Amino acid sequence: MGTRVRFVDPARLYKTLKEELDAAYFSVMEKGDLIDRGQLRSFEQNLANFVGTTYAVGLNSGYDALHLSLRAAGIGPGDEVIVPAHTFVASCSAIVNVGATPILVDVLPDFNIDPDAAERAVTPRTKGIMPVHLSGWPCDMDRVMEIAVRFGLIVVEDACQSLGADFRGRKVGSFGITGCWSFYPFKILGGYGDGGAITTNDPEVASFARRMRYNGEDRQTGEYHGHGYTCLLDNLQAAFLDVKLKRLPDWIVRRQSIAERYREALSDLPDLLLPHYDDARRTHIYQNYTLRSKQGSAFSDHMKENGVEVLTQFRKPYYRHAALKLVDRGFPETEALSREVCSLPMNVEIDDVEIDYVIKTVRSFYGK
Ligand SMILES: Cc1ncc(COP(=O)(O)O)c(C=O)c1O
Repeated sequence: MGTRVRFVDPARLYKTLKEELDAAYFSVMEKGDLIDRGQLRSFEQNLANFVGTTYAVGLNSGYDALHLSLRAAGIGPGDEVIVPAHTFVASCSAIVNVGATPILVDVLPDFNIDPDAAERAVTPRTKGIMPVHLSGWPCDMDRVMEIAVRFGLIVVEDACQSLGADFRGRKVGSFGITGCWSFYPFKILGGYGDGGAITTNDPEVASFARRMRYNGEDRQTGEYHGHGYTCLLDNLQAAFLDVKLKRLPDWIVRRQSIAERYREALSDLPDLLLPHYDDARRTHIYQNYTLRSKQGSAFSDHMKENGVEVLTQFRKPYYRHAALKLVDRGFPETEALSREVCSLPMNVEIDDVEIDYVIKTVRSFYGK
């Protein structure tokens, strides 16, 4: 069967924003504003306001945000950084690429870092901890911050999947020295190519990132402050992202209502673990609707065979890829969920008929 429900449909979303996106495009083109100009500043200001930090610095990717954050914190060879065993590989690669040692720890059934495991992993060499707010659900930031303060650790938040989520009314990405964001096209706030940013309240960290994204140069004085990179967010992407950021609060509400429909229609199926958690401190923004099925790939294959695009990207945990040379210290929760995860279509362009079809297809696997 061909595809009946797509995982995301960027062309359909474009049609709903066409006028504004086209206007943004023509404005950039007509002014010739391509690098480090007003559109970038505007987006950075709006992003900082949205997250509730003083600064935002636009970068080329979420990876760059993580990498520059670690560099800004002075983390390097000889240092250890605690990172979850279940995350997108870039969280860990950023640690390896600054020369530090990633110390992987297991996650909880909600996919996020297990604070007890993180606490047990602290050694005299531990310099930082990277909580990853996965799929739109915040980590337990009470526990993460408490551990960080107690052991004097730097917190770099990998919030690449959670723009708009909050913990005790405060947005994720505003707790650590930085919040790291990805605007990869299929993110909740996605560009039309790669993009990323950090948010921070620390002026030194913001200045460091602004210089390092431009080969280490202070653009005001022309002075090089170190060997840097070429990784700033393009003006064109910033202009597109600014258009989309205005819609984000409404889009989050829409995602939450789709998640609620999935919950109502599927919560009677005992072999499914749905991503709804009883914790009034946190808000889920459903970047992904990742459920766990006891039947693993048999379930996700059934969805695909019936024309529903689902994501099962984490079947082989990143630490089991030999070339990455990581230490597998045994992560039972990560191992279990890697076999079971399946992300259902979750986006703002999906229509009600498609949602019903997804639900029907899930239920039919269980003979309902
Ligand atoms: C949790 C997480 N961390 C880091 C990244 C890296 O972001 P990017 O692809 O923009 O480099 C992503 C994006 O895929 C992500 O989901």
